[in-house]
Amino acid sequence: MHHFAYRGGELYAEDVPVSTLVAAYGTPLYVYSAATLRRHFTAFDSAFGGLPHLTCFSVKANSNLSVLKTLAAMGAGVDIVSGGELYRALAAGVAPEKIVYSGVGKRAAEIEQALTAGILMFNVESLGELERISAIAKRLGKTAQVSLRINPDVDPKTHPYISTGLKKNKFGLDIENSLAAYAKAMELPNITPVGIDCHIGSQLTSISPFLEALDKILTFREKLCAMGIVPRYLDLGGGLGIQYDEEDPPHPKEFGEALTKALGDLPMTLILEPGRVIVGNAGILVTEVVYTKKTPSKDFVIVDAAMNDLIRPSLYDSFHAIREVRPAGRETLNVDVVGPICESGDFLARDRDLPAVAPGELLAVYSAGAYGFTMSSNYNSRPRAAEVLVDGETVTVARRRETYEDLIALER
Ligand code: LLP
Repeated sequence: MHHFAYRGGELYAEDVPVSTLVAAYGTPLYVYSAATLRRHFTAFDSAFGGLPHLTCFSVKANSNLSVLKTLAAMGAGVDIVSGGELYRALAAGVAPEKIVYSGVGKRAAEIEQALTAGILMFNVESLGELERISAIAKRLGKTAQVSLRINPDVDPKTHPYISTGLKKNKFGLDIENSLAAYAKAMELPNITPVGIDCHIGSQLTSISPFLEALDKILTFREKLCAMGIVPRYLDLGGGLGIQYDEEDPPHPKEFGEALTKALGDLPMTLILEPGRVIVGNAGILVTEVVYTKKTPSKDFVIVDAAMNDLIRPSLYDSFHAIREVRPAGRETLNVDVVGPICESGDFLARDRDLPAVAPGELLAVYSAGAYGFTMSSNYNSRPRAAEVLVDGETVTVARRRETYEDLIALER
């Protein structure tokens, strides 16, 4: 459920007409709904109300400060994967003791930055990383709390680029050798193993892979306890999918119930790292039709948003619903919706039935709140889109549109 809806024949973001936003801020324009963010966060977080838990929003999905502030104000923690994300999270007011740090390539400076900030824990993905964290913590006179990220070898049945919990993926430590890794963590100075971590993939539309992974992790936990290491935290990562098209992902409540049941009354704090399910359907990308073009084999709708603004269709062949901002009840055409970038891979939709729109009209690309702006670039020297956050009737420019000066500001 989100707060983008038609009133009197035009699309609103909460209480503001989308066309009003465009008149003020132009296109392409990312529009986020604060009420939707809060609603999704509450739905997710309350689904785990029966367990000690911490919901750590995955910053990579949407790292805009206004979005992070909205979630931090609700008590959210965050999952970060870089020093840049840590910097943003702290700037947004996220409490350091609610920050978990994942990722296979943490650099020394980033580890130092996180230790200095006093984050809750590192999700460690290799022995080399474990040794490096230990050495840096020792030098700083600090103790690093760590979870080891276990790769449970479970197929999440999602797009191969966003599957992470299979043996062949670069993530985590293989489950067979992980006991030895914990033994090593016990020996190393300035390290305290406090938990177990696992993240198997993104946009999962069924609960069973999560339960399969959890089952393996709980068996592993027993072995760990037998070694005298009793984990206080269990981090199950993110990955719960959303509806883009006709998927029917489980509701967070169902997800929460299933995990709560599987965990029973084990004395652990559950950590969850949801990204997409919080922010995906809390954002749209608004774009203007520049031209329509007919070729002997196809109809094209050429819009002013492109793969540099939203790369998901090009990269994953993913579906994003596209609707008129002011529906006019016209006949439908089968079209490709494409951007101005000089690549045939630059499309937002292919073979899509869309009303016969005309230049100057506005289209809304749905489900663009997650992995939209965060994956955008300046390709073709296109200044990046503006982002606005709507909260009822209040509009915040969450990020101003980039200018041509911004494009060259760091160059000589
Ligand atoms: N935790 C870890 C360790 C992750 O790697 C990820 C996502 C998450 C949490 C959040 O997953 P979510 O709840 O959002 O599914 N760019 C791709 C998605 C990449 C996901 C990477 N990791 C896309 O646009 O579909």
